[in-house]
Amino acid sequence: MKKFAVIGESLSHSFSPILHKIIYQKLNLHADYGMVEIAPKDLHSFIINNQFNGLNITIPYKEKVISALDSIDEPSKIIGAVNCLNGLEGFNTDWRGFLKSMQVNNVNMEGKNCLIIGAGGAAKAIAFALIKSNVNSIKFKNRTESRLKAITSWVNSLFINNKDHVTPDIIINCTPQGMFPIQDKIPMRTDNIYKNQILIDTIYNPLITNWLKEGAEKGARIISGMDMLIAQAIFSINIWFGIDAFKKIDIIKLKKELSIYYAS
Ligand SMILES: NC(=O)c1ccc[n+]([C@@H]2O[C@H](COP(=O)([O-])OP(=O)(O)OC[C@H]3O[C@@H](n4cnc5c(N)ncnc54)[C@H](OP(=O)(O)O)[C@@H]3O)[C@@H](O)[C@H]2O)c1
Repeated sequence: MKKFAVIGESLSHSFSPILHKIIYQKLNLHADYGMVEIAPKDLHSFIINNQFNGLNITIPYKEKVISALDSIDEPSKIIGAVNCLNGLEGFNTDWRGFLKSMQVNNVNMEGKNCLIIGAGGAAKAIAFALIKSNVNSIKFKNRTESRLKAITSWVNSLFINNKDHVTPDIIINCTPQGMFPIQDKIPMRTDNIYKNQILIDTIYNPLITNWLKEGAEKGARIISGMDMLIAQAIFSINIWFGIDAFKKIDIIKLKKELSIYYAS
């Protein structure tokens, strides 16, 4: 049996083991998926000596793990983070997962003005995906000013035609504001949200955050982070097994099945 796991510092709320096991069952893959909590001082030796067939990496190790690897793919180099290891080869499946989640929700991002809330790893992966999708502009909003400046200059160095905009067509939350157990928080006020604006959360627990609920009440289209989570997991499986699991897994259907594990 092949063995996979997610590694991070604190994983009690990780949904990845349930998600992967359900996908393995659907694909008839003889594999198991666990989780391993690792202290920062042990990260490097764990990575080099691990006996897993593949690993996912989560907070706070997506950047730190790179120094222990033999190689990383080009998008990971640009984003500066990996979330999937095949041996000592690193990949970033977050940006691909985001793109796939937009595709399955029929969101065409070309020419759109986008606002990303947050300036961490998810914000960078999603900004990279937006650039690949030929959006018109990408702006950020972040709690810490210095990180806001850093991510803005990073994106402008990659996206030389970036423009300014006043009203975004698409807003993406890349902060944990609203995630279990602080569901009452929202990342941004919804006073100015208008009909048909697209609000996307990266949070998947709860499935529909309060921010998305408020946005939907104002007529916005909303997309849960669960779609991206499922898609990034399938991209990892594709790397590990050399298959195209999207041919057999319907993300929207699977999300409905998984919703029993969450408050909505
Ligand atoms: N659905 C998926 O597949 C998927 C994939 C990856 C990540 N995610 C989610 O994306 C979110 C961000 O992950 P990440 O890896 O980018 O984390 P990260 O690198 O630690 O960045 C966190 C970001 O959130 C901001 N933030 C944190 N606490 C905040 C608060 N109390 N108020 C306002 N802003 C706050 C930080 O602002 P400062 O710069 O001010 O600290 C930073 O911009 C998490 O909720 C994670 O679960 C989802």
